[in-house]
Amino acid sequence: MLPLTHELGLRGAEALSRAFGVDLTGKVQIDRSQKADLQCAAAMQLAKSLKQPPRALAEVLVKALAEHPAVRSTDIAGPGFVNVHLADGWLKDNVGQALSLRQIGVGQTVVIDYSSPNVAKPMHIAHIRSTIIGDAIKRVLRAVGYTVIADNHLGDWGTQFGKLIVAHRKWLDESAFAHSPVQELLRLYIMFTEQEKAQKIAIGKKVDGDADEDDDDAPPLLQEARAELVKLQQGDKENVALWKTFIDVSMREFERVYSRLDVSFDVVLGESFYNDKLANTVQLLLDKGLAEESEGAIVVRFDKARDGEAMAPLIVQKKDGGFLYGTTDIAGMLYRVEHWRASRVIIVTDDRQQLHFRQFFAACRQLGVRTSMEHVFFGLMRLAEGTISTREGNLIGLEALLDEAERRAAVVARECNSELTDSEVLEVGRVVGIGAVKYNDLSKDRTTLVTFTWDKALSLTGNTAPYLQYAYARIQSLMKKAAAAGVVPGALVSFEPTERVLVMTLLAFDDVVEQVALTSRPHALCEYLFELAAQFSTFWSELSVLKAEPEVRPGRLRLAQLTGDVLSSGLDLLGIGVLERM
Ligand code: ARG
Repeated sequence: MLPLTHELGLRGAEALSRAFGVDLTGKVQIDRSQKADLQCAAAMQLAKSLKQPPRALAEVLVKALAEHPAVRSTDIAGPGFVNVHLADGWLKDNVGQALSLRQIGVGQTVVIDYSSPNVAKPMHIAHIRSTIIGDAIKRVLRAVGYTVIADNHLGDWGTQFGKLIVAHRKWLDESAFAHSPVQELLRLYIMFTEQEKAQKIAIGKKVDGDADEDDDDAPPLLQEARAELVKLQQGDKENVALWKTFIDVSMREFERVYSRLDVSFDVVLGESFYNDKLANTVQLLLDKGLAEESEGAIVVRFDKARDGEAMAPLIVQKKDGGFLYGTTDIAGMLYRVEHWRASRVIIVTDDRQQLHFRQFFAACRQLGVRTSMEHVFFGLMRLAEGTISTREGNLIGLEALLDEAERRAAVVARECNSELTDSEVLEVGRVVGIGAVKYNDLSKDRTTLVTFTWDKALSLTGNTAPYLQYAYARIQSLMKKAAAAGVVPGALVSFEPTERVLVMTLLAFDDVVEQVALTSRPHALCEYLFELAAQFSTFWSELSVLKAEPEVRPGRLRLAQLTGDVLSSGLDLLGIGVLERM
């Protein structure tokens, strides 16, 4: 619908500018409205600065907007809202455009880094957020024409491997590893952490200090792990082989989950991919005078004038010569900009990493990177017991969560519809169960905390995936009934208020998708789909479709069909499937 609202906004702004002799370009916005088809609140917003009563502005707007060919009439409501009623002919001619998305991304490449789990720790319920949110953003970006490179930036390098190598040698349970390797690696990792903690207590060190700090009096176990890590980094055969095994078994497990979630990547360039670029990255920073030595380490500093805020320095090389997460990230950004020619780089992680991203983006800007660098962060997922942490071993395996979702959804399907065959029940369980888990992650503003409860996620009412999937399935059964009765979708002839609201909402699909593409906030699409489904259900119960007068049936059926199409396209952009019957 944007061409229209945009045109009307321009006209309104021009007219006001002319009338009051001030340039108001871009200041007049036109919104969807339940009261009229469209509404404009600019008269109230601009009155004060123009020192005019809102009505005086509204009078100007009402005249200017009425002259647009799509507009049937305009009027003023309340203190100065301008209502815009569109011509029936315009609605009739344009409703079919509901599914066409403006291709705002054509010619631009976006790299989106999401999921990016750490190897040798199983994915758990909190990891799901990055995977699901990132995948939805990827789908939306592709739909509006961007060339999208989905990159799984695996945590496949770093201090955990030294620890795992030590733990693997000391405590490996071979049969457990053969049966469920990642679970066994997790056990080893936890075991290491506990033993290390015990040693710290024994030597009187702070237990909750940074485990990887650069100290010389670290507990023996940690020193051993560091030595193994150095061997690994130097290419020690045995350690490299172990490291590869850890990656292989983890990747196999991740892939099982990705396939269940219908998530895929174009490239998997883990941290280790950048390994041979780190020394050069630090050298580049030094050569450009952007990094300096500080207590043996090499750091990049930030100040308010240049970087917008004074932040703690980012360490890019430790005293012992080792590189860090941030070094890899800078190298990764340079690669993405040079290799992919990315105009946007989006990285999806939880909100605890915000400072890291501000630092590393600022360092990249100092290096001259002009690409739009976007940290898409989300609040952690909580269970009743609190935040999930792999280190403490308080985890619900992601696969167990998906199994449970499918099982519960199948039970509900069986209860709600006794006509479903056994295989249909399984299919409904899968699509609804996975959809519910995903939607639960997507439907709230991503920056808020999410508390996961089964009842909320699987509810058939309210803003949930099952509700939207059910709305879609009902429309499909209506379409089938209509076909059997020989009614085919046709042109709109009736324009009752509930129909107009539905048409306007259908036409807003592209605006919403565009907004999600620009802001990486998929919950706006969820809210939109929920609103659409609710409006459709009002329309259906108030006006009816097949029982309506014969001449209006084809038009109403067309609205039903379009609603179904927008629901399924919208859900598809969120990575959620639909069913013809459930
Ligand atoms: N592996 C990291 C973690 O689990 C996320 C990596 C995100 N991407 C990045 N380029 N830093 O916390």
